[in-house]
Amino acid sequence: MRFSLSLLAFAAPLASAQLHALAKKAGLQYFGTASDIVSVAALDKTYAKIISDKREFGQLTPANGQKWFAIEPQENLFNFSYGDVTSKYAKKNKQLLRCHNLVWHSQLADWVLQKTWTKKTLTAALINHVTNEAKHWKGQCYHWDVVNEALEDDGSFRNTTFLHVIGPEYIAIAFKAAHAADPHAKLYYNDYNLERPNAKVDAVINKIVKPLQRQRIPIHGVGMQAHLTASRAPTIDQTIDVMKNFTNLGVECALTELDVRVTDPATPENMAQQKVAFAAATGACVQVKGCVGVTVWDFWDPVSWIPGVFAGQGSGTLFFPNFTRHPAYDGVADALKNGTRKGWSVPHYDGDDEEEQEDEDED
Ligand SMILES: *[C@@H]1O[C@H](CO)[C@@H](O)[C@H](O)[C@H]1NC(C)=O
Ligand SMILES: *[C@@H]1O[C@H](CO)[C@@H](O)[C@H](O)[C@H]1NC(C)=O
Ligand SMILES: *[C@@H]1O[C@H](CO)[C@@H](O)[C@H](O)[C@H]1NC(C)=O
Ligand SMILES: *[C@@H]1O[C@H](CO)[C@@H](O)[C@H](O)[C@H]1NC(C)=O
Ligand SMILES: *[C@@H]1O[C@H](CO)[C@@H](O)[C@H](O)[C@H]1NC(C)=O
Repeated sequence: MRFSLSLLAFAAPLASAQLHALAKKAGLQYFGTASDIVSVAALDKTYAKIISDKREFGQLTPANGQKWFAIEPQENLFNFSYGDVTSKYAKKNKQLLRCHNLVWHSQLADWVLQKTWTKKTLTAALINHVTNEAKHWKGQCYHWDVVNEALEDDGSFRNTTFLHVIGPEYIAIAFKAAHAADPHAKLYYNDYNLERPNAKVDAVINKIVKPLQRQRIPIHGVGMQAHLTASRAPTIDQTIDVMKNFTNLGVECALTELDVRVTDPATPENMAQQKVAFAAATGACVQVKGCVGVTVWDFWDPVSWIPGVFAGQGSGTLFFPNFTRHPAYDGVADALKNGTRKGWSVPHYDGDDEEEQEDEDED
C-alpha cells in the first residue's frame, strides 16, 4: 500500500493539465492553434512535440497554406500542397481542422487584382475558386472561414475588388458556393476587432449574418479573431456581450486567432497584463454557451506574425523563445478550469467522441 502510494505520487505531477484537455472539460469543443507546419514543425523538435500533442492543441488552422495566393496562384491553376501539409498533420494527430480562408482581400493572387473584370466574370472566378478549394478539403474542415475581414471598423463594407466589381452579394455567393461544395462544413464569417461592442459588431449582425439568414444561405458561426493589445484589451464582460449578440441570432462563435501583443521586451508587468487579457478572452468563451472553441494564432513567440507587422511589439503568444510558458498560459488554464457549462444546444459536433474519454482521464 505504501509502496503503490509513493508510485502514484511520483507519477502524478508529470502530466500537468493541458489546454485542449481543459477546454473539453469546460464544455468547449477544442483549444487549438494556427501554424505554418511546413516551415516550423519540420525545423524545431520541441515545437513539433507541443503542436502534435492533442491534449495541448486539439485543433489546427493552417496559418497561410489555404489562402488564395497559395491555392490559385494563376487563374484556374490550383495548388493545394501548402495547405495539405497542415491538413495531413492534423489528420495524423487526430486534431480538428479549422480551414482558413476562402475569400479575403489580403494575401490574394496578383491576377485577381490585375485583370479587368466584369461582374459576371469575377463572379464566375470567385465561384470557381471557392468550389475547387472547398471540394479539395471536403469532409475534412470542421469549420471554414468563408469570408474574412469584409468590414471596416466603422461598419461599412471594405472596398475590396470583390465588393467593387460584384457588390455586397459576393458574400452570399461565396457562402452558397462553399455550402454546395462541402455541405457538412460549418461556415464562418471571420473578422478582427469584434471582441467588444462597436459598429463593426453591429455590421456583422445586420449586414452579414441576418441577410444570409433571410436568404436561407447557411452561416453557422462568427469567428472573432481576437488579435488583442495587452494594455487596452477588452474586459470579459464586453466580450461576453458580443458573443451573446451573435449566439442570440442562432449562430455559434469562436475565438479564432487569439494573441495579445505587448511592447517588447517582455517584463513582469506587461506579462501580468497579458495574462489578464488572455484569461478574459478565454473566460468569455467559457461563459457563453455558443462559443465553441479558442484558437491561438501560433503559440511560440519566434514564429508570431506580430513583430513583422507592429514595430516594437511582440511576445504575444503563450510560449517564450526557450519554450517556457508565459504567465498567460496559466491565465488561460485558470479560465478553462473555471468552466462548468455543459456543452451547446445547437447540433453538436461529435466527430472525436472516442477521444473524449481519453481527455477526461487526463489529470
Ligand atoms: C505548389 O506549392 C508548393 C508549396 O507552396 C510549391 O513548393 C510548389 O512549387 C508549387 N507547385 C507548382 C506546380 O507551382
Ligand atoms: C473602391 O475601389 C476602387 C478601386 O479598386 C475605386 O475605383 C473606387 O472608387 C472605390 N470606391 C469607393 C467608394 O471608395
Ligand atoms: C448586443 O448586446 C448588447 C448588450 O446586451 C446590446 O446593448 C446591443 O444592442 C446588442 N447589439 C445588437 C446589434 O443587437
Ligand atoms: C469564473 O466563472 C464565473 C461564473 O461561473 C464568472 O462570473 C467569472 O467571471 C469567471 N472568472 C474567470 C476568470 O473566467
Ligand atoms: C526562458 O525565457 C524567459 C523569458 O525570457 C525567462 O524569463 C526564463 O527564465 C527562461 N527560462 C529558462 C529555463 O531559461
